[in-house]
Amino acid sequence: MPGEDPSPRARVVTLDGLSGSGKSTLARRLAAALGWTFVDSGAWYRALTFAVLEAEEDPRNADSVLSVLSQLDLAGQADGTVCLDGRALGAELRTARIDAAVSDVADHPSVRQALNQRLRSLRNSAQHPGLVADGRDAGSVIYPEASLKVFVDVSLEERARRRHQQALAIGQERAFADVLAGLRERDQRESERGAAAPRAHQGDRVLDNEKPSVEEAIRRLLDWVKSLGTQSP
Ligand code: DC
Repeated sequence: MPGEDPSPRARVVTLDGLSGSGKSTLARRLAAALGWTFVDSGAWYRALTFAVLEAEEDPRNADSVLSVLSQLDLAGQADGTVCLDGRALGAELRTARIDAAVSDVADHPSVRQALNQRLRSLRNSAQHPGLVADGRDAGSVIYPEASLKVFVDVSLEERARRRHQQALAIGQERAFADVLAGLRERDQRESERGAAAPRAHQGDRVLDNEKPSVEEAIRRLLDWVKSLGTQSP
């Protein structure tokens, strides 16, 4: 049929945004609603960091990180879970140690390039009709050909408020000012990553996620996906 994509590649929707914007929750829920695969690109960075620390390599050394990556069997499950050598990783990726080292790993342009190649290859797998990928540069760098690119926008104060609440909910006593300062520092560091810096690009749909409930935000996203029709890539 004219205009139809003849390749078996999956359709892609990307949700990018800063830490604490809620993009992972939305991407996971959207993928489930569509029956697509969720690609949590942050979890891939975390899994690589986990392997680097397990190998007792230096996350600040790009060559060491690349060498670890070249030997890794990394795979993603439909719910976004990342498997390392066949082992599903969950809470191991959310430790303070990983939090502290993952930015070092993600700062190396050569590492980003190599990891992006792995993430891109997920699109060629025939297992899923579509991917919903979240990250910082999922739409701008990893999947530039995505059918729909969304930037999830939330103020620094609201993101800090949510992170603080989440910490309290799991019994971690943290001062709000510390959470705010930590996010501000991370925003600054990520904003220095050139093309991979998290920001809304031309053509992105901007989802204001400051106030809406998850349900409202998902409804809006589903409307956007439906409005694409069946012909776009
Ligand atoms: O979203 P998260 O907190 O799980 O991300 C973990 C780290 O990986 C964080 O330092 C940002 C980085 N990251 C990135 O640089 N590019 C992506 N596409 C996804 C995550």
